[in-house]
Amino acid sequence: MHPSSLLLAAASGASAAPVFAVYFEQWHTASLSDRATTAGVTHIITAFAQSTIFNSGTWYTPFMPLDQVRALFDDGTKVCMAIGGWSDTSGFSAGAATEQTRKTYAQNVATIMDNLGYDCVDVDWEYPGGNGQDYRIVPNDQKVQEVETFPLLLQEIKAAIGDRELSIAVPGKEGDMIAFTADKVPLISEAVDHVNVMSYDLMNRRNNETMHHSGIPGPARAVDLYIERGMEASKLVLGFTIYSKWFTTSGPCDGPEGCATAELERPDGTDTGLSGAVTFEKASYSDGEFAQAMQNGKVDEQGGGQWYWANSKLWTWDKPALITRKFDEIVKPKGLGGVMAWSLAQDSHDWSHLKAVREGVGGL
Ligand SMILES: *[C@@H]1O[C@H](CO)[C@@H](O)[C@H](O)[C@H]1NC(C)=O
Repeated sequence: MHPSSLLLAAASGASAAPVFAVYFEQWHTASLSDRATTAGVTHIITAFAQSTIFNSGTWYTPFMPLDQVRALFDDGTKVCMAIGGWSDTSGFSAGAATEQTRKTYAQNVATIMDNLGYDCVDVDWEYPGGNGQDYRIVPNDQKVQEVETFPLLLQEIKAAIGDRELSIAVPGKEGDMIAFTADKVPLISEAVDHVNVMSYDLMNRRNNETMHHSGIPGPARAVDLYIERGMEASKLVLGFTIYSKWFTTSGPCDGPEGCATAELERPDGTDTGLSGAVTFEKASYSDGEFAQAMQNGKVDEQGGGQWYWANSKLWTWDKPALITRKFDEIVKPKGLGGVMAWSLAQDSHDWSHLKAVREGVGGL
C-alpha cells in the first residue's frame, strides 16, 4: 500500500473490523440458524419497519422481540432496524420533503431506537428519485426533488441518532442509481457509516434479455460506479443473495446471458407471473423444478454465476465457490468495508452460503 493511502485509510477508519451484516426478515423465521453458523456476524438488520411510521409515530413493534433476536447471535452483535424495503417508499418521500418533516422523521427514528434498544438503523429507500415498484403509477419526473432531499434526510437522521450507526441499502443497477449522482454521492458518503450495495437482482422483470442476477462483473461495476461518484470505498458493503431467481424465456436458451425473455412485466408495471425467486430454504427443495436446477446447475466462470435452463425457465444464482471469488475479486482489491447477506433464514437447506460468507470475512 502506498504511504499516502495508508494515511487516508487511517483517517477514514478503513482499518476497522470488516462489516459482516445479515438481514433477518419477517417472512422467514421458521427455521433459524444456530450461533455457530452466525459466529462473527457484526450487524443483524431486522426488516422491515414501514417507512410511514416515522412521519408521525413513535412506536413500532418488531416481528420478534429484540432480546430473542440477540440470543441468536454472538454477544455484542449490533442489532439494526431496517426501514422501508421494496415497494415501501411513501413515508420516505413525505419525510424527506421539507426541513420540518426531515427533523420530525429523524427525531422519531431516534426515539423508536431509544424505546426499543436498537444499536443502528438502516434506510432501505428503493429508490430515492424513482424506479420503485410504483414507477409506472408515480413516474420518476414526480420524484426529481428526492435527489436533493435524500442526502438531507440522511444528515438529519445521523444527527438525531448520535453515535449510533446509520447505513443505507442502495441499488446495484446503474439505471436505478438516480439519486446517486457525482454531485450527491459525496454528501451521502459523509452522512452514513455503511452503504449496503444490493449487488443482486441485476436481472429483474424489467429486463428483456437474460443475464446473471448477481454474478461477478455486475457487482464489481456497481461498486466501481459508487466509488467513481465519490463514495468512500471503506463504507461500501457488498451484498450477497441467498436465493435463486428464474425467468421465463421466449425460446430455447443455451447459456446464462442474452436469451430473449417472455413478457415479464406489463406496460402498467404489474407482474405477469413469468419470473420469480426461490430461497435456499429446506422447504424450497420440495419444488421439483427448483431441486432439478440446483442439482444440474452449471457454472459460468467468466460471468461468475451459476445457471440452469429447463422448461422455458432460466435459473440464476450464486454457489459458495462464487461467493468466495467475490471476496478475492471485489471486496479485497477494491478495499470495501465488508459484506452483507439477504437474508438469514433463507439458507436453512444447509447454511452453506452463509458459511461461505463467514469464511470470506475471516480471510479479510
Ligand atoms: C430489449 O429492449 C431493448 C431496448 O428496448 C431492445 O433494443 C432490444 O432489442 C430488446 N431485446 C430483445 C431480446 O427483445
